[in-house]
Amino acid sequence: MAVFWSQIGRGYIVNNFDFVSFSNSVEEDSLAVLKGLDSKTQKTIDSKYFYDEKGSILFDKITKLDDYYPTKTECEILEKNEDKISKRLPSNSVVIEFGSGSNQKIKKLLKAINNPTEYIPIDISKEFLLKNAKKSAKDFPDLKIKAVCADFDQTDLLQKTIDSNKSKIGFFPGSTIGNYSPEDAKKLLINFSRILGKQNFLVIGVDLKKDIEVLEKAYNDSKGLTAEFNKNILNGVNKIFGPIFDSNLFSHKAFFNKKKSRIEMHLVSKKKQVVNVLNTEILFKEGETIHTENSYKYSVTSFQNLAESSNFEMIDILQDKKSFFGVFIMKVKDI
Ligand code: AVJ
Repeated sequence: MAVFWSQIGRGYIVNNFDFVSFSNSVEEDSLAVLKGLDSKTQKTIDSKYFYDEKGSILFDKITKLDDYYPTKTECEILEKNEDKISKRLPSNSVVIEFGSGSNQKIKKLLKAINNPTEYIPIDISKEFLLKNAKKSAKDFPDLKIKAVCADFDQTDLLQKTIDSNKSKIGFFPGSTIGNYSPEDAKKLLINFSRILGKQNFLVIGVDLKKDIEVLEKAYNDSKGLTAEFNKNILNGVNKIFGPIFDSNLFSHKAFFNKKKSRIEMHLVSKKKQVVNVLNTEILFKEGETIHTENSYKYSVTSFQNLAESSNFEMIDILQDKKSFFGVFIMKVKDI
């Protein structure tokens, strides 16, 4: 395949490959981060800041660890259910991946469905998005690919870039939905239903409730990669503000909050320290934490209820033998 590059504004065109960018401005990002840190109660940094290029690579390494079961289990479910997936989902559809990350899962989905016409990966990590979208372009040379660098919360913008007349299959794998509180997850699903439009499909991967030991091990892996990934969020923040954080002055903490049914990740300040963010002094007591991520775990029924109250109708539920993970095939309700 001849690779021919031409740059047009903020986009590129390479044969079957097209790129557009709607990423947030530095100003929007800095205000959002400052707001989370300048809190009298729990300090927070949004987990989307994990995914600079280094963070995306680290996460990809995590998915291959023995301790981290979700990705492997989800891939296995997609592989074993190829027939069901091809029967349940319409042929000649546009496939939209929300938060595309690495391309191993989409490869399995694209193989399973009949004659997909176009693939639209959406991700905030530009380098990673481009690298993986180009890999997909090679794997599926007949497929039209339009890579969109955006936050998949940007519903209005996304709606404009996606042709409303075509049959669509949304793909939201990896239990990224778990990063949202059930309330926000509901809003997000409703947004997806709007982007997709009635009668179209969403295939969504959701991590399920299980033994606390298994859950906590997945976020405290023996190789320490999750700890490195967690601390790397501070490098992401340093990219916005300059080097304000020393990640060595924080340690990794992850535990299952049973009452809220979620894994929480925190960064614990090893000592008393002051960090200057946009001329605001942020004081850390020794042992004080920054809450960096929630990863909600659902039961099959609790997720079914959430989906059905968010414009979706359940079509099929695929699971592994141990019920560690669920892949839900759903359809946008006709309302
Ligand atoms: C990609 C958000 C689903 O919550 O399991 C992995 C991210 N964090 N290890 C998850 C993550 C720590 C992951 N998600």
